Amino acid sequence: MPVAKQAEISPAEGKLGVLLVGLGAVSTTFIAGVEAVKKGFAQPIGSLTQMGTIRLGKRTDNRVPLIKDFVPLAQLKDLVFGAWDIFPDSAYDAALNAGVLEKELLAQLKEPLRKIKPMQAVFDQSYVKRLSGTNVKTGKTKFDLAQQLIDEIADWKKKNKCSRVVMIWAASTEIFLKPHPVHKTLDTFEQAMKENHKAIAPSMIYAYAALKSGVPFANGAPNLTVDIPALMNLADKNRLAICGKDFKTGQTLMKTIIAPGLKSRMLGLHGWYSTNILGNRDGEVLDDPDSFKTKEESKLSVLEYILQPEVYPDLYKDFSHVVRINYYPPRGDNKEGWDNIDIFGWLGYPMQIKIDFLCRDSILAAPIVLDLALFLDLAQRSGMKGVQEWLSFYFKSPQTAPGLYPEHDIFIQLMKLKNTLRHLRGEDLITHLGLEYYD
Ligand SMILES: NC(=O)c1ccc[n+]([C@@H]2O[C@H](COP(=O)([O-])OP(=O)(O)OC[C@H]3O[C@@H](n4cnc5c(N)ncnc54)[C@H](O)[C@@H]3O)[C@@H](O)[C@H]2O)c1
Repeated sequence: MPVAKQAEISPAEGKLGVLLVGLGAVSTTFIAGVEAVKKGFAQPIGSLTQMGTIRLGKRTDNRVPLIKDFVPLAQLKDLVFGAWDIFPDSAYDAALNAGVLEKELLAQLKEPLRKIKPMQAVFDQSYVKRLSGTNVKTGKTKFDLAQQLIDEIADWKKKNKCSRVVMIWAASTEIFLKPHPVHKTLDTFEQAMKENHKAIAPSMIYAYAALKSGVPFANGAPNLTVDIPALMNLADKNRLAICGKDFKTGQTLMKTIIAPGLKSRMLGLHGWYSTNILGNRDGEVLDDPDSFKTKEESKLSVLEYILQPEVYPDLYKDFSHVVRINYYPPRGDNKEGWDNIDIFGWLGYPMQIKIDFLCRDSILAAPIVLDLALFLDLAQRSGMKGVQEWLSFYFKSPQTAPGLYPEHDIFIQLMKLKNTLRHLRGEDLITHLGLEYYD
């Protein structure tokens, strides 16, 4: 990740290919949204790269450009989309099937969406038990499958006349995998692929193919994927940016907004009970206990890191944290998440907070995909290699350098992101000290 202040950033010339693994609710809502914005039908609400500003210099300087005017990001008109999925439906049919966006809006975007047909996936049902599909590659070994992906990425890039490509995992959550000795080095990893070792999940094969192809990679699901030494070292070696894991939307977004506030006022926590009903395909996949375990690990760690019970035992020792996801088909993508938060204040007096968030999962995730694609490409053109911790803002379970705990507080994450952009452009970092105004 280290990069010099005022780094030389190569210009965003030519087309940027965005390769999505999985063409489901999140991916199609993202692509359709970008097409709608390009046609002037809608605004890119929720996207920091498109709508966010950044303060520069002193508060009295009045310099507050849009982020997209401050750093050289690819423009929406230059984005080209490609995808892999185990179902052969075009982005148009997949979007209709996902049922997130209205049919009337999709009808107006039919032409660009129908052109996006998913390439055959690298898939193995033992890693996503609730799904099976036909649009799947065959190969003798996992290494063969990786080679097929590498060839396909090169062909796709050429055919679509892209000068750069980024890859984002927006496919189903795989079963929970622990780090394994074969993940340690590139040699052991490649050997394990050749031996069809079960510790190598399909998502790792995509990540490996991306990194072998000079393509930065982001992981939007909680799977281990690129968060293993072999692939982190490959990213470093090939000077490629990587980040993950698990897009921060819905209930966890709320948690990382509210928990820092409670902690900042030294209010204690007895317990936080979170439950969801969700009826989309993601919900169906997460109904399998092995896939849910991956998600649960990702969701549970957030409060521990933000509240630091070891530093504040009187406030946060032994709080109870429960997370449930219930698959309930009638709700489709329109998830409902309830939180019951048992807090305590002055002299230990108990209080409660209740949240009922009627959210739309993919509506919250789509702008994250856009921002990640643009920021990953920026990182790449700025010479930032390896784990991009400044993109923690977008993740439930941010990937960090080995041995470093992740920063979950969304306000710290935002400051880190903006200060990274200031650093890149040679501007002063903003500490909010502000003593100079009182000299
Ligand atoms: N929507 C959110 O708010 C949100 C937040 C955090 C994480 N996520 C994660 O993002 C991912 C996508 O979510 P979604 O709602 O779009 O789910 P979805 O089920 O609608 O789409 C996932 C797609 O991935 C495909 N797929 C599965 N395995 C594949 C493989 N090996 N190769 C290629 N395609 C494969 C499936 O066929 C499906 O079409 C999930 O892992 C989800 O947990 C979503």
